[in-house]
Amino acid sequence: MNSPLPLTPTVSALEPEWERLDFLAWSLSRSRRGESLADEEIARLRELQTEVDALREPDGAWKSLLGFQLNHLEYDILACALGPELEPRLGWSFQNLQAGAAQPWATRSLIQELLALDATQGEQLRRALAPGSALRRRRLLRLDHDDPYRPIMPEGWLVAHLTGRPLELPPPPGATAVNQRATWDDLVLPASRLYMLREFLLWIEQRDIVVGSWGGQQVGGPVALFAGPSGTGKTFAASVIAHALGWRLYRVDLGRLVSKYVGETEENLNQLFDAAHGQPMVLQFDEADALFAKRGEVKEARDRYANMEVSHLLTRIEAHDGPCILTTNMRRQLDSAFTRRFQMVVEFPRPDAPSRAELWRRLLPPRAPLEPAVDPAFLGNAVPFTGGGIRNAALHAAYLAAGQGKAIGLAQIAHAVWRELAKEGREISPQDLGPLAPHLPKEVLGED
Ligand SMILES: Nc1ncnc2c1ncn2[C@@H]1O[C@H](COP(=O)(O)OP(=O)(O)OP(=O)(O)O)[C@@H](O)[C@H]1O
Ligand SMILES: [Mg+2]
Repeated sequence: MNSPLPLTPTVSALEPEWERLDFLAWSLSRSRRGESLADEEIARLRELQTEVDALREPDGAWKSLLGFQLNHLEYDILACALGPELEPRLGWSFQNLQAGAAQPWATRSLIQELLALDATQGEQLRRALAPGSALRRRRLLRLDHDDPYRPIMPEGWLVAHLTGRPLELPPPPGATAVNQRATWDDLVLPASRLYMLREFLLWIEQRDIVVGSWGGQQVGGPVALFAGPSGTGKTFAASVIAHALGWRLYRVDLGRLVSKYVGETEENLNQLFDAAHGQPMVLQFDEADALFAKRGEVKEARDRYANMEVSHLLTRIEAHDGPCILTTNMRRQLDSAFTRRFQMVVEFPRPDAPSRAELWRRLLPPRAPLEPAVDPAFLGNAVPFTGGGIRNAALHAAYLAAGQGKAIGLAQIAHAVWRELAKEGREISPQDLGPLAPHLPKEVLGED
């Protein structure tokens, strides 16, 4: 018999959190009147505490709902912020406890009183809410100032995420969601490029500190340019960055935006940036070379018009308050006047043989049966594919093997590599397969 699939917990699993906060609110109102809790009430609070602790375990409901873990105090704060949003009775309790408050959310001072925190713990609470803290870096909370009497609210995307409501507005015209969950471990790049990508992340994650606390100049963006041949992992790296932030990646085809909608570009862009403003999203603009037509290269009036549009476009991208990644296949043509405008320019090289071996290792389906002759180091040396080519060939080989009811062997791989080479549209011969040539099935070669 099949075992039942584990169910993803829904937000209703968090009920004990609201019950505990409601109980704490009730006991706070009593203690303000000078009344204390009876023994059985203290016992009830302990019970609720135990239930809540279970939700916060590494295998608990919070972790599966959020995808990451927080510490105890951070969970307390998050529960206080989310409570009024998800359980209306809590909103009323909080409001009653805050004389004259016009809204249901708890302030820092109320949270401190509610959780009965002493001065040291109160300082920890302040730090957990400060710019640069985990709760702030992950954009879980909305709060304007470091003021103990301002309400602490959850970010809209978090509530939407927890309640299963649509995560955000549908993508604006010209933008599509990239649904790829890639992590740092999946990315095969020279160490120097990985450092640069992590530094780009600093521009997003540490902004509260640099701009907020240290008074650093507030510039738009950050904007990065990813330059490199097709299939070298530019979009893949952008999704690693989005995933590291817990945000969504949207891809905008600039070529289409500029050429097809010349007249409407302005309006499309306004819609796009309005929708993206303050949202947890990374915007990726493909074919950014459309922005880089060098001055002096303008020949026709139509070009000049398009050029005006594109320089305006770049200004708009720079002014946008949120991460943008521009990608291009043509590093050579870039004008340094343009590249200086970006916070980071990352070149994506074609992978060398050891990197290709690593890519084969990762891109062959992890649980596929492999014949012993399938050695990633051998494959990495065989053909100079990019990561994109290796992904296609690895998957095609897997489908061939599955269709033949066999393990993946060099025959299927040679076959798949042959198909990938043929896509380039040039004349190919078995020599292009290098050491894989002897493994190419005869019938594939004799097709024409
Ligand atoms: N450096 C890499 N590390 C890991 N996987 C990679 C890498 N490069 C490519 N891949 C694999 O190839 C696929 C295609 O790569 P990706 O779409 O990121 O290329 P790209 O540089 O954006 O190409 P294009 O310029 O055509 O948009 C990825 O989804 C990934 O599976
Ligand atoms: Mg791409």
